[in-house]
Amino acid sequence: MSFLILLFAAVSAATITILDPSDFASLKSDAADNVLTANWDYAPLSYQAYAITGPYFYNNTSKGVSHKTLSVSKNDTSVVVITEDSHVNISQSTVIKHGYSSDLYQSSFYGLNAAVNIANASVAYLENINVTVHNGAANIYVYGNNSYAYISDSSLYSSGPVSHGLYAAGYGTVVGKNLRHYSGAYRSSSFAGDSPKGYVYVYDSIAHTAGIGSAIFYGQGTVYAENILGYAQQAPIAFLDGSQIDIHGSDLTAGLLAGAVIFSSGTRQSGSEISFTNCRLTVFPDDAAGLWFGNVIASASLVRSQIHTTSGILVIANHSQVTQDFNYFADSTAAADATITISESSLTGDLVAYNGSSISWTLGNYSTWTGTAYSGYGNASFSVSLDASSSWMLTGNTVLTNFTDADTTLSNVHSAGYNLYYDSSSSHNRWLKGATKKMHGGGYIRPASKLQLQGSH
Ligand SMILES: *[C@@H]1O[C@H](CO)[C@@H](O)[C@H](O)[C@H]1NC(C)=O
Ligand SMILES: *[C@@H]1O[C@H](CO)[C@@H](O)[C@H](O)[C@H]1NC(C)=O
Ligand SMILES: *[C@@H]1O[C@H](CO)[C@@H](O)[C@H](O)[C@H]1NC(C)=O
Ligand SMILES: *[C@@H]1O[C@H](CO)[C@@H](O)[C@H](O)[C@H]1NC(C)=O
Ligand SMILES: *[C@@H]1O[C@H](CO)[C@@H](O)[C@H](O)[C@H]1NC(C)=O
Ligand SMILES: *[C@@H]1O[C@H](CO)[C@@H](O)[C@H](O)[C@H]1NC(C)=O
Ligand SMILES: *[C@@H]1O[C@H](CO)[C@@H](O)[C@H](O)[C@H]1NC(C)=O
Ligand SMILES: *[C@@H]1O[C@H](CO)[C@@H](O)[C@H](O)[C@H]1NC(C)=O
Ligand SMILES: *[C@@H]1O[C@H](CO)[C@@H](O)[C@H](O)[C@H]1NC(C)=O
Ligand SMILES: *[C@@H]1O[C@H](CO)[C@@H](O)[C@H](O)[C@H]1NC(C)=O
Ligand SMILES: *[C@@H]1O[C@H](CO)[C@@H](O)[C@H](O)[C@H]1NC(C)=O
Ligand SMILES: *[C@@H]1O[C@H](CO)[C@@H](O)[C@H](O)[C@H]1NC(C)=O
Repeated sequence: MSFLILLFAAVSAATITILDPSDFASLKSDAADNVLTANWDYAPLSYQAYAITGPYFYNNTSKGVSHKTLSVSKNDTSVVVITEDSHVNISQSTVIKHGYSSDLYQSSFYGLNAAVNIANASVAYLENINVTVHNGAANIYVYGNNSYAYISDSSLYSSGPVSHGLYAAGYGTVVGKNLRHYSGAYRSSSFAGDSPKGYVYVYDSIAHTAGIGSAIFYGQGTVYAENILGYAQQAPIAFLDGSQIDIHGSDLTAGLLAGAVIFSSGTRQSGSEISFTNCRLTVFPDDAAGLWFGNVIASASLVRSQIHTTSGILVIANHSQVTQDFNYFADSTAAADATITISESSLTGDLVAYNGSSISWTLGNYSTWTGTAYSGYGNASFSVSLDASSSWMLTGNTVLTNFTDADTTLSNVHSAGYNLYYDSSSSHNRWLKGATKKMHGGGYIRPASKLQLQGSH
């Protein structure tokens, strides 16, 4: 199923059609596979419980394979295993995998049942290969320190649950270039890392996921991406669960929950960061934010990037969590503190914080923002900071805990008749001297009342 990229959708209806591996597959015969879910309701084992095996097993060896069809049809079995200091290259070949995984945690943490498993300080160059998997299996899995897989000019297709395209864990590294990826089932992200840390680098690729929880990027570790055209039909474009995701020159579309979801699956963590440079993020659902933060202290940065939402909400920070179902937000044990830095970008939309969460929003380097900030429910706290080259057009009355503006005359704030209320007890706001002043456009900046600062309305 190809997907359409809307160009300048607001102005005209120009579209281009992007083909992905599903256009060459039989989605009909994979439909049963794609509705499979899995039982996650058991304690994962913290060690490798199954041997990683397969018919093409390379143990401490060096080998080149080309023009071959490699396949297996067996549960808990890989097609190709490259392990124990092996150096194996595969080119112009087709890898086909059938067979289920009996333990999806083992699949996640060790690559059980993955079509191609590169482990234990092995190195693989995969070029011009087509990898097709059914019944739920990762396409390319890399595990362990000093394990590297370089894959280029290749096509990755999957049906069945938890079938990531590129998948790295245990400090393994995968580097992809010129790939076309499609996954049809749930929890099958295009480019994914798992714990402990996987390193994922991907360039010049097309990615399309159809299932719930199947993002373009799933980070637990580091993801670097450049020039990716991606569409996640029933997921955000990224999940960050303790990770750094750095995206450049990409056009990404999200179909469920939010543009990107930044959370902690366990107790609240800090340090996750997503950055977009020269990117466009499009978010379809009616109520979804561009960037969503829950149960986390985390940051985001946008440089020369755009966010287009249907909801008109740029950022949500919530006392909330995504569960293993990946299709709704549940309550969590902690609120979110989100810090977002905008550079050379023009954004339209609101900031919404819920139930004790906070959002800090910094505009610099000729950025513009049209929007307001408000509480979803409960108390909420917002900080806005502008440099002198950036500007803000209010679209509603706004209450800020901290407000700093390098242009102390506020000539870069356009009130459009709305008021800006600030916490006169915050040290950041001392420069305002507790005063009330008229702003451009007729609105006033003035100290907030206690009630306003509690943020409920
Ligand atoms: C690799 O081969 C060595 C030597 O035969 C053996 O001891 C080891 O168990 C093998 N490793 C795997 C993962 O099969
Ligand atoms: C695999 O390909 C890499 C990169 O082209 C090359 O350096 C290496 O020698 C090749 N190894 C084998 C075993 O063919
Ligand atoms: C692989 O073989 C080399 C040379 O025989 C040996 O030095 C090395 O320890 C082996 N590595 C593993 C992981 O077995
Ligand atoms: C891989 O699949 C594509 C279609 O998705 C096909 O055009 C190409 O020839 C295949 N390549 C190999 C090496 O089988
Ligand atoms: C493979 O797994 C599937 C799904 O769990 C199961 O129905 C089937 O019996 C298994 N096959 C074998 C040979 O164990
Ligand atoms: C990697 O090495 C560990 C420890 O020796 C071993 O248990 C595991 O089976 C190996 N993995 C693979 C895929 O060979
Ligand atoms: C693997 O690499 C990580 C990160 O560099 C390091 O903390 C860990 O000790 C390494 N593990 C082994 C077995 O070398
Ligand atoms: C906010 O979090 C609550 C749970 O605390 C959840 O029910 C609600 O759906 C979340 N809303 C959004 C937009 O994140
Ligand atoms: C709001 O936060 C409090 C903790 O401050 C928590 O007990 C409560 O469950 C949260 N409610 C919702 C709906 O998120
Ligand atoms: C929100 O209220 C709770 C308790 O009512 C308090 O602990 C928390 O600091 C407040 N958060 C903000 C952001 O004002
Ligand atoms: C403005 O751009 C410079 C240079 O690229 C960068 O170092 C700085 O952090 C940017 N400022 C903001 C507020 O993003
Ligand atoms: C406002 O500034 C105070 C003092 O620096 C800081 O602790 C607080 O986190 C800031 N609030 C927001 C929403 O950034």
